Amino acid sequence: MQNKFFVPALAAAGLISFAAMGYWAQGAQQQEQQGKTKGTRGRQQGREGQVKGAMAKGAAITKAIAVMHPTKGQKVDGTVTFTRVEEGIRVQAHIHHLAPGKHGFHIHEFGDCSSPDAMSAGGHFNPQMSEHAGPDANMRHVGDLGNIEADDSGHAHYDKVDTHIRFFGPASIIGRGLIIHEKADDLKTQPTGNAGGRVSCGVIGVAKGADSAAR
Ligand code: CU
Ligand code: ZN
Repeated sequence: MQNKFFVPALAAAGLISFAAMGYWAQGAQQQEQQGKTKGTRGRQQGREGQVKGAMAKGAAITKAIAVMHPTKGQKVDGTVTFTRVEEGIRVQAHIHHLAPGKHGFHIHEFGDCSSPDAMSAGGHFNPQMSEHAGPDANMRHVGDLGNIEADDSGHAHYDKVDTHIRFFGPASIIGRGLIIHEKADDLKTQPTGNAGGRVSCGVIGVAKGADSAAR
């Protein structure tokens, strides 16, 4: 009977071709995978390009926020928001547990509140190497927001549109520190305004703004 030989021969041939197909399929799969990876990378690069374009136009960030935390031995806390408006960036602060009177209010170089006295936040944010001055001066540290004034109950409100600070470029305040001082800023003593110790520290981060909500 031929079947005796034919069946195992057929089975062997089938096995070989099955193995070959498996090898071929594996190669094809790998190629397909590589193609997919390349495609994904291409799409990712495209997306990065879009984001960079949006940031260059300043469209990506419309609002920022700093949550203020007391330094060691203090209770001063609150929130400060920065909102892009037509004339600049509107700074609104609501601070509690301050001693009544004026307190220096600055953006500092580093978004680092890790040391108990907040000295880790560095000096006034000054990307243009200017002299310390008041918020309305033409030449000033970008971080010179002047003073915040607390009432008898220790509440302080600040609401002012600033034209020096930015959300992008060298004057960008995103990721910088925000400091409230023990004493008033005299708006002239170099380089600090003689505002004394630091009673509260926060880091300026991106907040949910009108643009991001619509997107
Ligand atoms: Cu300061
Ligand atoms: Zn300054």
